[in-house]
Amino acid sequence: MRHKARHKGPVITMNWNTTLDVKTRVAVGAGARQKLSSILAQLGAGKRVLIVCQPSTAVHWLRDILDTLPGEDFQVTTLEVPDGEQCKTTEWLLRIWEHLEGRGFDRQDTIVALGGGAVLDLAGFACSTYLRGLNLVLIPTSLLAQVDASIGGKNAINLPTGKNLAGTFFFPRAVLADQEVLSTLPEKQITSGLAEIIKYAMIEETVAKSTDYEKGPKPLFELIEDMVKESVEWDDPTLAGLITNCIKMKLYVVHRDPHETGVRRCLNLGHTLGHAIEAQSEFELSHGEAVAIGLHHITKYSVSQKKLDKEALERVKEILMRAELPTDLPKGLTKERLIAQMNSDKKRSGDKVKLVVPQSKLGVVDFESSYPVTELAKLV
Ligand SMILES: NC(=O)c1ccc[n+]([C@@H]2O[C@H](COP(=O)([O-])OP(=O)(O)OC[C@H]3O[C@@H](n4cnc5c(N)ncnc54)[C@H](O)[C@@H]3O)[C@@H](O)[C@H]2O)c1
Repeated sequence: MRHKARHKGPVITMNWNTTLDVKTRVAVGAGARQKLSSILAQLGAGKRVLIVCQPSTAVHWLRDILDTLPGEDFQVTTLEVPDGEQCKTTEWLLRIWEHLEGRGFDRQDTIVALGGGAVLDLAGFACSTYLRGLNLVLIPTSLLAQVDASIGGKNAINLPTGKNLAGTFFFPRAVLADQEVLSTLPEKQITSGLAEIIKYAMIEETVAKSTDYEKGPKPLFELIEDMVKESVEWDDPTLAGLITNCIKMKLYVVHRDPHETGVRRCLNLGHTLGHAIEAQSEFELSHGEAVAIGLHHITKYSVSQKKLDKEALERVKEILMRAELPTDLPKGLTKERLIAQMNSDKKRSGDKVKLVVPQSKLGVVDFESSYPVTELAKLV
């Protein structure tokens, strides 16, 4: 299936120095995927290229990507991994390593991850560990992967005991965030990505204060409020602007704090409860749906602590509902289990837990305070 973008703006290319001595080229816009071969040439990459994809992305986009890699210049192989979260396993990690080993990949060669956040996480992990790192190029195909998972250099697979328990920090050499590939994305996944975009809007002021990120003339929150008055289509020009904006915001945050010791914690707004809901619902809710509930509940908590006014809470609820995201805990999840799950959060240290809490007005958060773990019960 091919779709043409109605609004084809220019592809914006940013050269990003990650502070960890890796330069990442980030191309954003309709048609960005066409830059793959020229970027590989600029990197001086070897001939061998492995494309890791899932059935959904293979059927819609693999041929298209293969067409951009001329046979005389590249030896391209592909590996299709199972859909969604099921690919983030040691079994599939091993299959990728074996694939690379069997075909004689060396450190100049490249892995291209074509898919949602799950494929990016798996391929990134495999790429960072094989020969201590090949070239990694990410082509994020879900909205959530474009605004979040493709940026920041975190990669992970799941272990039987929990999600993302084995992971690395490893930066891609290039990210090609192409809005056209969103044309085949199921509606539920567009909605899921919107939750992360709303999160960015809720931290915008604080990020602008703590990093070199510059706000536009209108707060992101207001832009999204206008956009969600109607159902959001993949080729909405406002969405295109928001994707670029969120990517920039995350790049600035990660540049300032690559290892999450300070401002990067802002990105976890709504995620402490969100992760617990995701795990307890056995991934029946998408990441974004769980985060949406987390955003609503942490805002409620802030209002109960008199740190934010009720009107802000109403706006958060309204924007989430208009984006067709859930705001309340799903039936069937017990509060005790959610609290127990939150207690095992990676951000816990002893009887304290770091929480990111909205403060004073929408766009501002406190990311520095620690709270007694007993406060977690007030989030549900
Ligand atoms: N590393 C990070 O910084 C980071 C950040 C956020 C999330 N994540 C991880 O990302 C994953 C969630 O990512 P996600 O929301 O993209 O989910 P996903 O990767 O599971 O993709 C969602 C679904 O959409 C399908 N899909 C993706 N692109 C498509 C397209 N263009 N057309 C048709 N179908 C398409 C996938 O096959 C899948 O069924 C989780 O594993 C999460 O842990 C990582």
